[in-house]
Amino acid sequence: MAARPPALQLGPNDHVVFENVHKSFGKSVVLHDISMRFERCKTAVVIGGSGAGKTTLLRLLIGLDRPSSGHIWVNGQDIVPLGEYELGRVRQKFGMVFQYAALLDSLTVFDNVAFPLREHRKSLSRAELRDKVMGMLHALGLYGKERAMPAELSGGQRKRVGLARALMLEPEVLVYDEPTSGLDPSTSRMVDDLIEETRQRFHVTSVVISHDMASVFRIAHRAHLLVDGRVIASGTPEELSRGGSELARDFIRASGISFADLERLVTPERA
Ligand SMILES: Nc1ncnc2c1ncn2[C@@H]1O[C@H](COP(=O)(O)OP(=O)(O)OP(=O)(O)O)[C@@H](O)[C@H]1O
Ligand SMILES: [Mg+2]
Repeated sequence: MAARPPALQLGPNDHVVFENVHKSFGKSVVLHDISMRFERCKTAVVIGGSGAGKTTLLRLLIGLDRPSSGHIWVNGQDIVPLGEYELGRVRQKFGMVFQYAALLDSLTVFDNVAFPLREHRKSLSRAELRDKVMGMLHALGLYGKERAMPAELSGGQRKRVGLARALMLEPEVLVYDEPTSGLDPSTSRMVDDLIEETRQRFHVTSVVISHDMASVFRIAHRAHLLVDGRVIASGTPEELSRGGSELARDFIRASGISFADLERLVTPERA
C-alpha cells in the first residue's frame, strides 16, 4: 500500500494519532471509527468498562496487531502499511507497564530489570549493563532491592520494578495497562504520582488504559471515554466533568465518584 498523507492536520506535538481506526474480529466490530491524538510528553487516559475495547486499542497502539481499516501515525509516519521488520522497529519506541507488573518470579529484581537489555542490547558490557540497571533502580527508589525476589516486594514496589524494566530501552511512549487495578487507594495514588514523575523525568508520552475515574482526574491531560468500541467523549478532565455529553456524564456517575470529588481531584497546576 502506498503511503498517503493524513487527512487530518498533524502538528509537531502529535506523537501518536489514530485516524478513523476500525477493528473487527470476523463479523464482530470491536472498535468503531476511533480518532484520537496522543500528545508528546503528556498523559492521556483511555477509560472504559469491561469489554469496551481497551486491550484491543492498546495492542494496535503498540503495533502488536493491525487495524481492519484506518491509520495510526507515529511521529508523522503511518505504521499500518509497514512490514513486520519495520513494525518491529516502531514497537521499540513503546514501553509497556503490564497489569500486575508481570514480573518473572524466579528472577531477582536486578535480573528482571536487566532482562530487556540482555535481549535487545547484546553489545553492552557487563559493567555497562550493571551501571544502567543500578542507575534505574536508584532513580525509582529501589536501590538496595536489587537482590530481592518479586515475592518479597510490596504491590507498589512491584509496580516500580515493572516500570524500571519498561524504561530500560528508553521508550518514547510508555503505555500502562490498568496500572491501579487491584491496588488499595493509597497505593493507587502513589502509582499515579509515579506515572506523573516518570513523565516529567524521562520526557515520555504516557498512555494509561484504565477504568479508574479518580486516576483520570489526577493524572490526565486528556481523557477518552470508550463505550462499546466507540469514543463517546474526549477532552480535559475539566471539560468532561463540566460539559461533555449526557452519555459521558452517565459514565462518570456510574463510576461512583461524585462530581464534587472530581473537582477536588483535578490538580490545577498540572501543566
Ligand atoms: N482476538 C479476538 N477475537 C475475537 N474477539 C475479540 C478478540 N479480542 C477481543 N475481542 C472482543 O472484543 C471486545 C473488546 O475486548 P477487549 O479485550 O479489547 O476489552 P477491554 O476493554 O480490554 O475489557 P476488560 O476491561 O475486560 O479487559 C470483546 O467483546 C472481546 O470479546
Ligand atoms: Mg482489557
